[in-house]
Amino acid sequence: MKNNKLSIAIFLSVLAAVFFSCTLLAQKPAEKYTSFKPGQLWLDNNGVFINAHGGGLIYYNKKYYWFGEHKIEGKKGNSAQVGVHCYSSNDLYNWKNEGIALNVSDDNSSEIAKGCILERPKVIYNGKTKKFVMWFHLEHKGKGYATARSAVAISANITGPYTFVKSIRPNANTNPVNFIASDTIKSKDNFFLRDYAIGQMARDMNLFVDDDGKAYHIFSSEENRTMHISQLTDDYLSPSGKYIRISKDKSREAPALFKHNGKYYLITSACTGWAPNAATIAVADNILGDWKVIDNPCQGPDANLTFKGQSTYVLPVQGIKDAFIFIADRWQPDNAIDGRYLWLPIHFEGDKITIPWMDEWDLSFFKTKK
Ligand code: DGJ
Repeated sequence: MKNNKLSIAIFLSVLAAVFFSCTLLAQKPAEKYTSFKPGQLWLDNNGVFINAHGGGLIYYNKKYYWFGEHKIEGKKGNSAQVGVHCYSSNDLYNWKNEGIALNVSDDNSSEIAKGCILERPKVIYNGKTKKFVMWFHLEHKGKGYATARSAVAISANITGPYTFVKSIRPNANTNPVNFIASDTIKSKDNFFLRDYAIGQMARDMNLFVDDDGKAYHIFSSEENRTMHISQLTDDYLSPSGKYIRISKDKSREAPALFKHNGKYYLITSACTGWAPNAATIAVADNILGDWKVIDNPCQGPDANLTFKGQSTYVLPVQGIKDAFIFIADRWQPDNAIDGRYLWLPIHFEGDKITIPWMDEWDLSFFKTKK
């Protein structure tokens, strides 16, 4: 009897899981979107849930491309079972599935073996080499979050396929531009010194290309306690050796950097795993200079939890002055594929920067705001 009940319960949960996956995988035929609805299901041109978590965007040849982690159902989806998914769009509302840009490998000896952790992929274009360069946070399979590496892949085509190049621990044997003698004092918490010779840890990350074409890799380092901003070489494939340590011992992650009116802004979260926390925004006149934390820019319900999300990117909207979209993930670690996206406008009022919650909005927000 007990066994019968157990079998029925298992059967029903499998049925529920299959039904739930089907609702995510095949919705009604694609509808034409004319607005953003943060946190709601967002379907691609085939009516399938957009699967690009921890993502980043790039504008190229009059189109936007969105790259992100392809997640699968259940907790297993927190590790990389597929790779990096790519979508394209003309209007930012409607997204065409461009397929998997970088596949994880079936070869267990590969650095990107299926089951590794591959997070927060970002793609930038290098005009000199004519290559698209993808960076992502990589943890080797079976090592949890201990390896703390950044990895690089390249492609001649924006949508891929991308070829894995290497993974690194940045800036081995290199002092930051804001190096001070006390950085060399040995202590159990001096992770900078501990990793000096092998290269610094690199977990949550982002990329930023400045107006002069110099690119920067921003990442949580030193056991997530200190953020690094590290300039890349001209081919965007390696650290140039010039970097700065910021937010020392402040434990920030999920960096999203943008530039507005000549100033650099950096949105980050605290470190609470998949659980949401309050964001902060910091400002600097020089990307490798002094950074000052301003405040939590979020406003509205759950503003102290980043609207139950975590920053992943800030997108400058093409052709509209002062238009930036804050992009965050609402993680669902128990069923990774069901993580939702939060796209919200950034509002500038003099020196004050806010991200107001909106149930629904469209790009006219930027044209009509005062
Ligand atoms: C928070 C990070 O921002 C995510 O990318 C992921 O690494 C989770 N932590 C894992 O707990």
